[in-house]
Amino acid sequence: MGYYDIKDKNLKEKGRERVEWAERQMPVLRKIRERFEKEKPFKGVRISACLHVTTETANLINTLKSGGAEVALCASNPLSTQDDVASTLALDSGVSVYAIKGEDNETYYNHINSVLDIKPMVTMDDGADLVSTCHSKRKEVLKGVIGGTEETTTGVIRLKSMAKNGVLEYPIVAVNEAMTKHFFDNRYGTGQSTLDGVIRATNMLIAGSTVVIAGYGWCGKGVAMRARGLGANVIITEINPVKALEAIMDGFEVMTMAEASLRGDLFITVTGNKNVIRREHFIRMKDGAIVANSGHFNVELELEDGLYKMAVEKKKIREFVEGYKLPSGKTIYLLAEGRLVNLSAAEGHPAMVMDMSFANQSLAVEWILKNYDKIKKDVYVIPEEIDMEIASIKLDTMGRSIDELTQEQKEYLSSWQEGT
Ligand code: ADE
Repeated sequence: MGYYDIKDKNLKEKGRERVEWAERQMPVLRKIRERFEKEKPFKGVRISACLHVTTETANLINTLKSGGAEVALCASNPLSTQDDVASTLALDSGVSVYAIKGEDNETYYNHINSVLDIKPMVTMDDGADLVSTCHSKRKEVLKGVIGGTEETTTGVIRLKSMAKNGVLEYPIVAVNEAMTKHFFDNRYGTGQSTLDGVIRATNMLIAGSTVVIAGYGWCGKGVAMRARGLGANVIITEINPVKALEAIMDGFEVMTMAEASLRGDLFITVTGNKNVIRREHFIRMKDGAIVANSGHFNVELELEDGLYKMAVEKKKIREFVEGYKLPSGKTIYLLAEGRLVNLSAAEGHPAMVMDMSFANQSLAVEWILKNYDKIKKDVYVIPEEIDMEIASIKLDTMGRSIDELTQEQKEYLSSWQEGT
């Protein structure tokens, strides 16, 4: 039994049942786990993980443990922990878990420090707070780390900047860059779970409403697609002209946030950048506008120096909904304190997509163990064979078959002489 700091030990039964439910939708991970059980590729390997503590993550952690790893886990966001999952991981799986839903910032960083106390050989991060802590306040752990993985776009951006500045002290596999990760998790996962979070928090009708989505990357595309499917009028804001054109040709309205702020009933940020919705935008919004963020950090909304500072009154309306009254008399409703709405007010992405994301995580750790002495202190993309293997297994588990290239087609693709 490891050490732990969790909310309630009595939640373990409920957590165990929910983890088993998710496992039913994670056939690729199950297959990897069966192999790991036999081969024990992580025997003697200590892994410190900073991830959203969900039913899907529990299945990943159990897979790593089946491979022989010792794992310590903390939350990658103060509001995303599912306390019943933390409980079953600590008490049934014997994992050192440090995660409590609603923990304050100080506890959040204390928990990151606790997982580093096991002196990891591999780090597994979602947002790069773990990596940045061991490169700043916990430098003594760096000498034992041979590599790490990173789950999300925001983390990859931070890590690439560390590598560019020559301060990254060990190689990282950017799991997010795998096609079997971002094509599915970012698009279909974020698309569905973001609206799930908004709907659970507010019970608002999406049909007929105007939904403003900031950012048309993979996540923004997913949210826009699902909002439209529910009958919303969707407006996209972008800073990238190519993505803006793409949004227009996908049939969405595109405009600046200054214009959109007058129109939206619901605002969702998914840009990975900061202060995307600012004071000047909040002021222009309609009375009753609802604002949520589904990007990794709540910095996408200008809260401290914007909404919070301007507000003359703050009122909790219901769970995950707070009303901020502005001097004009208008009230803006903020969901989940601007934290990722899909993980705070709902359960995050469904297991069906996390299956592939976490298959990538598991195989990325195995790849690091095989290659760490041959690679540089840089950010790596998972090899394409692994990506394709994950897609093939997923198809197989869905009972779908695809065609194979004939010999003639293979030759055609590798020849340059054949033309018209
Ligand atoms: N990120 C988004 N959804 C997630 C989930 N269900 N589990 C872990 N991380 C996630």
